[in-house]
Amino acid sequence: EKLMMKDLETVLYTEEQILARIRNMGEQLTAEYRGKFPLLVGVLKGAVMFMSDLVKRMAIPLEIDFIAISSYGTSTRSSGVVRILKDLDQDVDGRHVLIVEDIVDTGLTLAYLRDVLVRRNAASVKIAALFDKPGRRQVPIEPDYCGFTVPNAFIVGYGLDYAERYRNLPDVGILKENVYRGSDTPRT
Ligand code: PRP
Ligand code: MN
Ligand code: MG
Repeated sequence: EKLMMKDLETVLYTEEQILARIRNMGEQLTAEYRGKFPLLVGVLKGAVMFMSDLVKRMAIPLEIDFIAISSYGTSTRSSGVVRILKDLDQDVDGRHVLIVEDIVDTGLTLAYLRDVLVRRNAASVKIAALFDKPGRRQVPIEPDYCGFTVPNAFIVGYGLDYAERYRNLPDVGILKENVYRGSDTPRT
């Protein structure tokens, strides 16, 4: 933990703060989805930690599934061209679907996924995002449930990666610039 913590400029949210917020979101979602047997759809890989902690705080029957989505590289990210790398196992037809995401950045990933789920005839599609970075938005989409609104900084930890690293950092913080300076792809 210390080895990774030294790469942080600042800690924004400690593990305790994150878990307290998720407990609160879980109570809210328990009330919202009672009797609806929701299907929670986690977006690999960033959402794995959030999904894991969130469902433990939802005291109702539900199902979980995962989808992996990729844009065609960072240079074309703004084009909105995305594709499914690993599809859901469950049929979403008639289901109340809650998308579980670690962060909403440009919004392209969620706009695409929401459209896919609506076209597959989900009964409802809502979004729970642990972090929202509205300053980077390229398409108009807002999470229905949001843990924390974050500034326009490069944040890692609790699922959020830089070049696949730091996902296992329990806290979330701003990555030091010298860690990614000189890289062609500051965003993964
Ligand atoms: C990150 C993050 C969101 C998405 C948000 O995932 O976990 O899924 O980007 O960005 P957007 O709003 O601009 O689309 P990434 O594609 O890096 O994959 P990962 O979850 O495996 O890290
Ligand atoms: Mn992701
Ligand atoms: Mg990533």
